[in-house]
Amino acid sequence: MSALGQMVAGVAHEINNPVSFIHGNLIYLSEYIQDMLRALQAYQQHYPNPPIALHAELDKLDLDFLRSDITKMLESMQIGTERISTIVSSLRNFSRLDESGLKAVDIHQGIDSTLVILQYRLQATADRPQIQVIKEYGQLPLIECDAGSLNQVFMSLLSNAVDALEASNQGRSFQDISANLNAIWIQTRQIDTNQVMIMISDNGIGIPEEICSKLFDPFFTTKPVGKGTGLGLFMSYQIVTEKHGGNLWCDSTLGQSTKFVIEIPVKAKRIA
Ligand SMILES: Nc1ncnc2c1ncn2[C@@H]1O[C@H](COP(=O)(O)OP(=O)(O)OP(=O)(O)O)[C@@H](O)[C@H]1O
Ligand SMILES: [Mg+2]
Repeated sequence: MSALGQMVAGVAHEINNPVSFIHGNLIYLSEYIQDMLRALQAYQQHYPNPPIALHAELDKLDLDFLRSDITKMLESMQIGTERISTIVSSLRNFSRLDESGLKAVDIHQGIDSTLVILQYRLQATADRPQIQVIKEYGQLPLIECDAGSLNQVFMSLLSNAVDALEASNQGRSFQDISANLNAIWIQTRQIDTNQVMIMISDNGIGIPEEICSKLFDPFFTTKPVGKGTGLGLFMSYQIVTEKHGGNLWCDSTLGQSTKFVIEIPVKAKRIA
């Protein structure tokens, strides 16, 4: 996992530079193009009747279309580079390579970065509308934790929630799902001076009572071969309890909902 984290952080870093200079230059490029268009307009005003050869040249260009399209193109390029920058900074934030070990961090930033990386699984598909993410963030102090590994816990819990929602969609029509939207709730709150709680719930398939006690066992999975390794919750449990001296448990109603609760100390008790 840490080798993978290093690679992700390395690639994100490499992408960051070229994207920054494309994005930075686009701002100047827009200004220069606007200046040129203004100059062109001034020419047209002062020389309303140019020589025939120039007239033909301008007609060929379809100047009006070019003028409106170039502005739209620059805008969409700017939106595109902004989006890449958000993803890159989320990847860097998610892997937190430069900050392994204990550090006081903003947990909400870690959850938000994880959501950006998971965005491709949340968006609408041909079979269902977008998965709703409802955030109810409380006031949290900075948490002394190993942010990289805690972000992996958020990733595991959120990925499981998406899997559970997809499983619950089996056999349901688009209209049916639209009437009762797939949703993930993320709630955070401070319980006392040294404890915070993070709850991740979904309205997916739920978990049968008889397997609740096995969820955190290594290699326990109900997913088809190749889809799940059964290590996500096992590793999450280790990270929360052993690494952070916290607690992780689950509460589910079959066919309705599942809630995972993480409790961690504000100041770390011990770290493996
Ligand atoms: N939100 C959820 N809703 C319903 N079932 C869940 C949920 N989260 C976990 N489970 C059940 O717990 C099992 C174990 O989860 P875990 O994340 O450890 O492994 P996995 O998702 O199967 O594989 P992976 O190692 O890829 O995460 C899952 O196979 C699933 O049956
Ligand atoms: Mg999993």
